[in-house]
Amino acid sequence: MEKGLTYSEAIEKAGNKLCRFPLKSVRGVPLMEPIAQEWDSVWAFCPDPSDLLIATYPKAGTTWTQEIVDLLLHNGDAEACKRAPTAVRIPFLEICSPPPIPSGLDLLNTMSPPRVIKTHLPIQLVPEGFWENKCKVIYVARNAKDNMVSYYHFDRMNMTQPEPGPWEGYIHKFMKGELGWGSWYDHVKGYWEERERRNILYLFYEDMKENPRREVERIMQYLDLSLSDDVIECIVELTSFKVMKDNPMANYTFIPKPVFDHSISPFMRKGEVGDWVNYFSSAQSQLFDEDYERQMKTANIPFRTKI
Ligand code: A3P
Repeated sequence: MEKGLTYSEAIEKAGNKLCRFPLKSVRGVPLMEPIAQEWDSVWAFCPDPSDLLIATYPKAGTTWTQEIVDLLLHNGDAEACKRAPTAVRIPFLEICSPPPIPSGLDLLNTMSPPRVIKTHLPIQLVPEGFWENKCKVIYVARNAKDNMVSYYHFDRMNMTQPEPGPWEGYIHKFMKGELGWGSWYDHVKGYWEERERRNILYLFYEDMKENPRREVERIMQYLDLSLSDDVIECIVELTSFKVMKDNPMANYTFIPKPVFDHSISPFMRKGEVGDWVNYFSSAQSQLFDEDYERQMKTANIPFRTKI
């Protein structure tokens, strides 16, 4: 970010260079055009072994996990975790926007390790330095139906994402892997298959909803931290949907119009498991389930569509 500029100011300055960017294929994966244009520098990024990667398919619970991790690393200090918006505290590796909006790499280059880094890249597009340096990686997966509903609303409100079009057609785009960052199916399977070999902590959104304390403790152990019971309890509370929705440093209101139009759909929308039932007709659900069987039959990943 240009020195002293807030996100709002940077967005205002970027002005008419902002639009609903088309998707461009990078090694077969559709990515926003500005990312595709800068792909060589993203691919060349080399992390420090102490850096931590949080990887997700879009809308699987990234922001929630980012907040948990930041609080764990700051011993539950709520004020310390309000030092900057999520996107500055934990840069988004591959994101590229028109200047002066900072790219993920711009932000990372101003920080010294250990850093926490967010990515939506499928495993084969994660820069190799992460694996060579044996960085810790937390992956969060969310059941396909809720993930898709959340992505649909996000595409409506994020004016730099392709137009979602009608719901009926969106389902087909999702099933065919035509949305930004590609196929949900390949994404969740890619990390699942490598989780043991590459020491990836593989979490589920549904488990986090069901028992947030248990999952916060799993993350804490993975990070080799040991926090008191009171601090853990406090982190669970600070990262509840209700509290995060009111936290301006975590609820993405720091990215205003014309990028995120929260009046169309707030970034912190519902935060529930099973909201998909309000969107899928029974015919759509059946069609989706049949296709799901085909795409996921070899995977055996224990997703839950209700808790
Ligand atoms: P919904 O659209 O279903 O509400 P991401 O951070 O990967 O973009 O994911 C966003 C989704 O996670 C949104 O889902 C958002 O509401 C939800 N979310 C964010 N913080 C949450 C929290 N603390 N608890 C539960 N869900 C949360």
